[in-house]
Order: sequence, then C-alpha cells, then structure tokens
Amino acid sequence: MKATVRAHPNIALVKYWGKRDEALILPHQSSLSLTLAPIHVTTTVEFGAPSDTVELHGHVARGSERDRVLRLLDAVRVQAGRDLGPAKVVSRGDFPMAAGLASSAAGFAALAVAGRAAAGLPADTRASSILARRGSGSACRSVQGGFCEWQRGERADGEDSYAVQRFDAGHWADLRMVVAILDRGEKEVKSRDGMKGTVETSPYYPAWVKDAEAEVPRARELIAKRDLEALGELCERNAWRMHATSLAADPPLCYLNASTLGLIQHLREQRKKGVPVWFTLDAGPNPVLLTDAAHEIAAEALARACGAVDVVRCVPGGDATLLSEHLF
Ligand code: DP6
Repeated sequence: MKATVRAHPNIALVKYWGKRDEALILPHQSSLSLTLAPIHVTTTVEFGAPSDTVELHGHVARGSERDRVLRLLDAVRVQAGRDLGPAKVVSRGDFPMAAGLASSAAGFAALAVAGRAAAGLPADTRASSILARRGSGSACRSVQGGFCEWQRGERADGEDSYAVQRFDAGHWADLRMVVAILDRGEKEVKSRDGMKGTVETSPYYPAWVKDAEAEVPRARELIAKRDLEALGELCERNAWRMHATSLAADPPLCYLNASTLGLIQHLREQRKKGVPVWFTLDAGPNPVLLTDAAHEIAAEALARACGAVDVVRCVPGGDATLLSEHLF
C-alpha cells in the first residue's frame, strides 16, 4: 500500500499549448519532448493512512494544489476498484522551482506511477501517462524517458490521449539542454490560464494548432537522424510561434522580458561564429538552450554572460522508476 517513484521533468521541443477539454486535460494538438536528467522529483504515496495529507516540497498543500493531487488519487481508486482508504503523499524535488521547468510535470508523473503501484495495480506506461495527464498535461510525457510524443487523440474520454516513447535516452546521449535562469520570480500568468486565454481569444490559434501538429513528425525525423542544427531551428520556430500566438491574445500574453530577448540575440551571434546553440522557451522568461556535450560549457558561459543568475545543465533522462527507499 506504499510506493515511491522518481521521475524527471521534460522540456517540450514541440509545445503543448491549449486544451480542447479542460476537465480531462485533452490538448488541441500533439507535442514532443525530451525528458531531462539528473534533476528529478521523488514522491511517496501510501494508502490506508489515518487521513488525506499532501506535503509538497516541504509544505502542507492546501486548496487547489491539494485538490489536484487528491483528484488524481481518486482516479487510481476507481482503477483499483476497491476502497483503499485515505492517502498520505510526500513529494520532493531537487531543482529550483523557479527554473521555469515545471516541477508539476515530474511531480504528477511520479504521483501517477507511485499511486498505481501503491494500489497494487500492474506497471502500465499507457495507464500511468493518462493518469499523469489528468494532473497536468505535460506530465504525461514524463512517465517515460528519452523523446516522448503526446498524441492528442480523438476520443472524448481521453483514453487515446497519452505519451509514447519514440527514442530512449541512449539514442542521443550527447544532446544537452541548458536551463538559463534569468529571472527567479513567479510568472505572472500560469501556463494553465495563459493557454486558456490564447485558445479563447487569439485569432492565430487555429494556425498554431495546424502548424504544431505538422511539426511533430518533422521533429521525430530530425531526432532519428540526430540532426542538431535542423532540430534547433525547428525548436526555435515552434517556440516563437507559441509566443506569437499568445502575444495576439486579448489581453496579450508576453512571457519574454528584455533579458530573454538579449540572450536570444546573443545566441544568433554565437551561431554565426560556429557555436551550435539554439533555444526553446516555455511560459516564462527563462530560455532552455539546446546544444551538444562539446558545447555545454560554452552554452552555460553564454547564459551567464547574458545575466543568468543560475544555470542547470541537463542530459537526456530515463523512465519514472520505483525506488525501494520511501520518503516516510
Ligand atoms: C508551455 O502541462 O503545465 O510548458 O495541463 O494546464 O497543467 P496544464 O499545463 P502544463 O503546460 C505546459 C505548457 C508548456 C509547453 C509544454 O510543456 O508542452
């Protein structure tokens, strides 16, 4: 009745931006990401506790944060088909929460896999991905390592909307992602609200959906060939288009700040000098740089020269895994 899982966050190379179903968290388009190591979140779930308690990163979760965790465990109870009693959840991450890499992706992936294991359900990546998705969309891509594709699916019940691994972490072991933390502040508009506003008011939204869907198989082909330059260009293009769509929302959503633009400008200059480094950008000001092992130190130096207060260097990460040591 107790299980502990470690999962890694992921960074989308082709972004998920917008839901067709808010309650089930079903996306309008498919997306593709890379799971990132060594950073991770560890979560222990125990059923049969005296009462429902949720402790996240050292504080007792309340309100909507708590509800999201307990709702996911309710879905586990339905899958188990029996009364599992109240649950105790403790979760801890080892990376800066302001890194712009949502700890929620790793957190909900770890919770889904640990929840199923604690309930005695068999290991099942598809079922875990669907469960993780219901906590946070991008979490469905953190159940497995390497390059994972979240297929949007067609069904209204979401049973065909989950992530599948296309290539494992070993496929492109010298790929590097360098997170440049320019700003530690909380973002003003959370992804969830930002994408909702974009879906509802951006006139460019239909074009975003069509384009992102078409970029997924292209990205897959470039990953198969380990073509860093073409993948870097695709990543930048996709990030720009997500931000362009959001800028066109009403009210407009601008996640970039002056330092973000400064760093992007600097990257272009470095590329002209032959440094292979590209960026992607989620719903915040902190870019994630895409490069190879031979240039990760140069990428870190470049980020720091552009004002990064912290830098997290990542390599392709593996699957969410069960641990024998628990957090309580
Ligand atoms: C820009 O998965 O955090 O990082 O499903 O509402 O929990 P919810 O949103 P979330 O959004 C991630 C948006 C993104 C792009 C991506 O990771 O694909």
